[in-house]
Order: sequence, then structure tokens, then C-alpha cells
Amino acid sequence: MAIHIGLIGGGNITETHARAARAIAGVEIAAIYGTNADKVDRLCREHGGTRYQDFEEFLAHRPMDLVAIGSPSGLHATQGIAAAQRGLHVLTEKPIDISTERADALIEAADRNRVKLGVIFQDRLKPDICRLKQWVSSGVIGKPILADARVKWYRPPDYYDNSRWRGTLSLDGGGALINQGVHTVDLLLWLFGDVTRVQARTSAALHAIEAEDTAVAILQFASGALGVVQGTTAAYPGYPRRLEVTGSEGTIILEHDRIVAADLRNPLADTNADATRDRNQSSSSPVVSDFRGHQAVFEDFIQAIQHDRMPVCDGREGRRSLAVIEAIYRAAQKPDRVVDV
Ligand SMILES: NC(=O)c1ccc[n+]([C@@H]2O[C@H](COP(=O)([O-])OP(=O)(O)OC[C@H]3O[C@@H](n4cnc5c(N)ncnc54)[C@H](O)[C@@H]3O)[C@@H](O)[C@H]2O)c1
Repeated sequence: MAIHIGLIGGGNITETHARAARAIAGVEIAAIYGTNADKVDRLCREHGGTRYQDFEEFLAHRPMDLVAIGSPSGLHATQGIAAAQRGLHVLTEKPIDISTERADALIEAADRNRVKLGVIFQDRLKPDICRLKQWVSSGVIGKPILADARVKWYRPPDYYDNSRWRGTLSLDGGGALINQGVHTVDLLLWLFGDVTRVQARTSAALHAIEAEDTAVAILQFASGALGVVQGTTAAYPGYPRRLEVTGSEGTIILEHDRIVAADLRNPLADTNADATRDRNQSSSSPVVSDFRGHQAVFEDFIQAIQHDRMPVCDGREGRRSLAVIEAIYRAAQKPDRVVDV
């Protein structure tokens, strides 16, 4: 039976959602809602679906099984709750929202209305990253000691000028960390477990935005391991995300989405990096033109609906990175203090 999907937003990432949805057999785009009529018109012409500029009318469209939310981050929970209340499954872009209070309300609404809630962290389905997760979970690096994450990306001034919500506290919830760095914070938590305490500094060094374009944080994991995160959109021309995880048995290094080194006391037989590296240049552009990561998330979410199981990243999992980033922002207000998550 066909799955009917409604798209919310109509901007950069909704284009990726439309292409990812259309690449899946049996999925149809039922409707698209956004506040920019020209963009929504163009998406409907190219990808199908009924165009809506009224949110209530969009939510009443049938047949429609799920919505994919690609609107500004501070609208995710409100729009997701409205969809859940109408019995629609909700797959939202990262971050789940910009406040844990609103994220909790969305999680509660999904539970109460018995719909699935998923958060799009496509890294969790990439082959090398899954291999890294499996290695860390099975003890290959030994006792976790240190995680070092660098997200030294660049966005040109147009990136902020063309979408006025970006870099605002009210709709982006912050800047480089909550928008770009959140993918890597999610990975740190997925690989190393909960963070209990943080120290941080942020600055608005290059861009004319309300929030930070550069952030540095020290993390203490519940396991006792330590971590460092650097996130910026001010590092011209932009470098691949780098994650180095060190344990008592050695270090594994991920660059962009590929394992580039596994320096272990007992070398693994299978350390060949996967050849299916994605082609997105996230370090220098917000455009997700290689939609295979999103396609994998959509496929997983649809299977979660069909088989009544959890998606790879549900609401509670998706909330974890937001909680740590909220704590980092609190800590940055008092840089001489350690703050509990
Ligand atoms: N997973 C990823 O790799 C990835 C990549 C880029 C963006 N994102 C996420 O996608 C979301 C959107 O980012 P973007 O780059 O597409 O931004 P964008 O500015 O290109 O698109 C947002 C769209 O939302 C529309 N909009 C504004 N108010 C709205 C409302 N009330 N209801 C519905 N639509 C409204 C705007 O007209 C705009 O077209 C953000 O949450 C961002 O974090 C995720």
C-alpha cells in the first residue's frame, strides 16, 4: 500500500526531502505546506503534491500518513504537535526543536496520540559511522578516554541573509552549534553515552548574527571520559568534520563520514573504509544534494510505522543533543563555571 507524505517548510531541506521521498518505491508526496508560495509552487510542480498555504487545511489533507518537517527549527515542536493530534506520524529535521521544554511536549503528544516520532540525524545510518558505533559498543577501543570533535565549517554571509531565521535566538535557538554542530554532538552521545557536565565559550566572531558563529566546549561523560567540541561557521573555506575517539586500546578517526584511521593495539581485520561516502560538501554548503542519507532515514521511519518499531532516532534520542547544547549555551553565559546537563 502506498505511503502518503506531507512536507512542511518548502525551503532548502524540503527539496532534499522531496527527492529522498520520490526515490522510495511506494511513497507519494501528498501535499506541501510552506509560507513562501513561490517556493511551494515550484516544489509541487517538480515533485507533485497539493500546495497549501493554510496549515490547518494542509493537516486535513487525506490520504496523508506522515509529515516531514523542514521548517525553521523553532517551529518543529508546535507543528509536530499539531500533526500528531491529527493522527499523523512526525519525522522532523534536527534539532528536534530549540528548547527541551518544547521537545518534551512534542514527545508527549506523539506518545498520547500513538504516532511515531523521528528526528533526522542521517549520520546514524551512514555505513562507516555504523561501523564505528559497533566497534565502540563492542569495546574495540577499550575504556573510553577522550572524544575530540571539530566542526570547522564555513557559511558565506548569504547563508544568513537569504533565510532570516538562521542565527536568530527565537527560531534557530543559537548559531553554529545548534544548527551545524548538532549532528556531531548527536554522534558523540550515540558513541560515548550521556554527558553530565559542560564548560563552554562562544563568540560571534565573523557573521552579523544574533547568536554564536563559534563555540568551544569541554564535556564530561557519565562514563568518566572527557570530550572537546569545536563548532563554527566562520572557518573559511570550511573543513570536513573530524571526530577522534580514543580509548585504552587506541584511537579511531572519522573525517566527514568516513573512517580514515583505526590505530589500535590489536589491529582489526576489517578496517577498510566504506566506499559509499556521501558527496555533500557540508563543510561549505547547506545544500544536501546527495540525498541518500535522508532517503535511508525516510525508509527506516516508514518501516518503523509499518512494523510498529522504534525509528533509528526517536524523539527521546533526538532530544539528547539538544539538552547538551542547551547546557553549553548556559555554560557560555558563565565561562568560569562548570554546568550540569
Ligand atoms: N539534516 C540536515 O542535514 C539538514 C540540512 C539543512 C537544514 N536542516 C534543517 O532543516 C530546517 C530548515 O532548514 P533550511 O536550510 O531548509 O532553511 P530554509 O530557510 O531554506 O527553509 C525553511 C523554509 O521554511 C519556510 N517557513 C518559514 N516559516 C514557516 C512556517 N511557519 N511554516 C512552514 N514553513 C515556514 C520558509 O519560507 C523557508 O522556505 C532546519 O531545522 C535545519 O536545521 C537539516
